[in-house]
Amino acid sequence: MTMTRRQALRLLGVGAALSVPGCSLLGRTPLPRLLTSGAPLPRPYTVPLPLPAVAKPYRTDASTDYYELVQQQAEVEILPGLRTPIWGYDGQFPGPTIRARSGRRTVVRVTNRLGAPTVTHLHGGHTPPESDGYPTDLVQPGTHRDHVFPLEQRAATLWYHDHRMDHTGPQVWRGLAGFFLVGDDQEEALPLPSGERDVPLLICDRSFAADGTMPYPARPDGPGAREAFMGGVLGDVVLVNGAPWPQLAVDRARYRLRLLNGSNARTYELALSPGGSLVRIGSDGGLLAAPRPVDRVRLAPGERADVIVDFAAYRVGDQVELRNLADEGAQARVMRFTVERNVRDDSAIPTTLSRVEPLDPAKAAATRDFEFTSGDMHGHTGWLINGKPFDARRVDARPKLGQVEIWRLTSDVAHPVHLHLSPFQVLSAGGERPSGPPEWKDTVELREAQTVEIITRFTGYRGRYVMHCHNLEHEDMAMMSTFEVV
Ligand code: C2O
Ligand code: CU
Ligand code: CU
Repeated sequence: MTMTRRQALRLLGVGAALSVPGCSLLGRTPLPRLLTSGAPLPRPYTVPLPLPAVAKPYRTDASTDYYELVQQQAEVEILPGLRTPIWGYDGQFPGPTIRARSGRRTVVRVTNRLGAPTVTHLHGGHTPPESDGYPTDLVQPGTHRDHVFPLEQRAATLWYHDHRMDHTGPQVWRGLAGFFLVGDDQEEALPLPSGERDVPLLICDRSFAADGTMPYPARPDGPGAREAFMGGVLGDVVLVNGAPWPQLAVDRARYRLRLLNGSNARTYELALSPGGSLVRIGSDGGLLAAPRPVDRVRLAPGERADVIVDFAAYRVGDQVELRNLADEGAQARVMRFTVERNVRDDSAIPTTLSRVEPLDPAKAAATRDFEFTSGDMHGHTGWLINGKPFDARRVDARPKLGQVEIWRLTSDVAHPVHLHLSPFQVLSAGGERPSGPPEWKDTVELREAQTVEIITRFTGYRGRYVMHCHNLEHEDMAMMSTFEVV
């Protein structure tokens, strides 16, 4: 019986791994589940690392750069010898990288040539509400929408991705995500590695059916089936910039790696093997005040970390793996660097990177509590914030423009919580203050049964925004809440 069921599921390409526990310590709360590939998978570190194309503005004037991204289907070779249908911005996965400037208006026209409505959100953008990609601001097939990004914000590694209500998980899984890098003069004046040694790495997991497709578990209405993947969808292939366990030839020099976890539900703990230090220089919201050498970087879905790796610490011919300590076997592998040649390296890591002004809890005008749990949602199980499923007609908080607030976020199982519009600083996690000086974040991981306090100041724009869990299956099953800046 078990075998038959497994075989049947494998044929569909949706075999849930039996080794992954379906439930957590907290009773029946579902955890993410692994989809097993039916396709033959390549040996790790045999495919070269691709770099996403850099988008060119179709028009530029004194104040503004104008871009167009066309969402379309395409077939790409992800696994050697197989064709994989994707949905991509400009038919690419990841989509083209937009390189923008802090304070320079950037207008992105998103044209939908897919067969389904879409919504595009700039994650980490300080964006007016009408351009932010509220989950019901649908762009219908055959139409377009102009997103205006004033980018009155710090230099940072941002990303854009689909945000359609109830459908973000499948639409991002099919490929709708890309980098959006904001630069500024101050950052450019630093001697950090740049050009070919400034490498964006979008890390995500996918699974492949025997024919090369990336099936996504359906959301059937039957009660049991619906719940099977509500904890989150995990793939068994780790992709970096859309390539399976790729490899990159590097010089004996410093590299800036812009790490982005673009996975639906997988959390990584990244480290170098056979050892070596990662020097963290940036977080979701741009440069830290000072560099911080670490031996690992944990990234929940939606989070970013900019790190410097100095390959001069290795010898020519050495192979350095980027590994994921949060898992075993194939999913413990991410990518590999091959140290190829000696070069002159003029880069450096300055001891001061930027100014990060701490937000003062004594100035907070309000404290709000948000509980992230599973629970009953119209007769079946869903993900709730303060006991309620997402409803676009309801506003759950009305912070005042300019006001400093403390938000206390509490979890049942782990939830990576993301706030639109307003970058924040973490005050405490599990009752403890963070180990380093404050940094700007837009996504924070609540570990299992934990309270995380964040502090933020609502600036820039009045209007409707969302806060949500960035486990995309949790988000699609209603773990989202609207706040309105008034
Ligand atoms: Cu990266 Cu509201 O999302
Ligand atoms: Cu966002
Ligand atoms: Cu969640």
